[in-house]
Amino acid sequence: MSTNFEKNARTDAAYAGVDMRSLFLRHLAQTSPSPLGLEIVRAEGIHLYDAQGRKYIDLIGGISVCNTGHRHPRVVKAIKDQVDQYLHVLVYGELIQSPQVQYASLLAGNLPEPLNSVYFTNSGAEAVEGAMKLAKRVTGRTEMVAFRQSYHGSTQGALSVMGDEYWRNAFRPLLPGIWHEEYNSAAATDRITERVACVIAETVQGERGVWAPDSGWLRGLRARCDAMGALLILDEIQTGFGRTGSLWGFEQYGVVPDIVLLGKALGGGMPLGAFVADRRLMRELTEAPVLGHITTFGGHPVSCAAGMASLKLLLEEGWIGEVRRKEALFRSRLAHPSVRAIRSCGLLIAVEFEDAGRNQAVIGECIRRGLLTDWFLFAPQCMRIAPPLSITEEEIGAACAIILECLG
Ligand SMILES: Cc1ncc(COP(=O)(O)O)c(C=O)c1O
Repeated sequence: MSTNFEKNARTDAAYAGVDMRSLFLRHLAQTSPSPLGLEIVRAEGIHLYDAQGRKYIDLIGGISVCNTGHRHPRVVKAIKDQVDQYLHVLVYGELIQSPQVQYASLLAGNLPEPLNSVYFTNSGAEAVEGAMKLAKRVTGRTEMVAFRQSYHGSTQGALSVMGDEYWRNAFRPLLPGIWHEEYNSAAATDRITERVACVIAETVQGERGVWAPDSGWLRGLRARCDAMGALLILDEIQTGFGRTGSLWGFEQYGVVPDIVLLGKALGGGMPLGAFVADRRLMRELTEAPVLGHITTFGGHPVSCAAGMASLKLLLEEGWIGEVRRKEALFRSRLAHPSVRAIRSCGLLIAVEFEDAGRNQAVIGECIRRGLLTDWFLFAPQCMRIAPPLSITEEEIGAACAIILECLG
């Protein structure tokens, strides 16, 4: 092995003309044998631009992250202003960092009581981990109930509550005491007992290919958790921030969880996650042991500044009020004989084809024609549509025209 690293070092200029794809495949750990592998050099609004100068309509918004579009000027300004003040200063929770404090109070002001105390993390999965730990401490119990075909992240705790054996099984042993029930099932609700610390559910199951529960089911789940003394954790990581047509998906079901999980759009395009609960519950993480949950970078000030600018935009711009109309437009434009079904909850839309092969072919053709879309983890036969909420009706028309051309 050579110790002469200098021979591999390149100056920035030396990267000009280098085949980025081969470096990407050689040096960046891969998540699949067939990555999309487009080299993106710029993003703005609902568009991405690649190194060959091709423009793409981004119909998945970074997987429900870019709800206010890519690089909105107000988000970029908030980031630049914060960069001029300070970056990381100390581990989460010790110093008063105004971007964290202001964003936490803005979130609390826009969540129902008792969701008044925000623990910022770096990612959605870390928010899941923190919430699971909190539920154990608050209840003194260890059993947990999750649902089949649910996705909550890829770390070991989040994987333990993931509802798909194919992805879970290879990484056993996972956390004990967790069992999976049928989503939207009253019989499942009845099986929750006084030994259960928490029930964790997505308000709408995203990776299953957009499955919304019946309106009474979540209320029944809430009531059963109350009766059994179990905490209800709702995962709004994909459904939050206006995606479903209200700021939070759970508003449409008349329930308030004990802990809500946030991520994705929370950071306005920067990495950020959070679990939010009553401050009386959160106190459990501060004593016996002290520092019961710690993170170096959670609630990074630049991420909080970006997220707050993005949430203010959502609250001021009226895009959330337009979600249902835009959803209806997608649904009507995409009526086509080869579409088996369209399931949607606001601008979280699954377009179902006869099988995964057909879906992959359509997705590939869309990308060749300048439209980026994707499939769902547990529904490979479904095309994902989750654009920035700022997408206009004309842009929806243009996007649907490309999809229809690809359907032939
Ligand atoms: C519903 C849901 N929960 C949790 C997560 C995990 O978030 P992250 O990838 O930030 O860890 C995701 C990510 O796709 C998600 O969709």
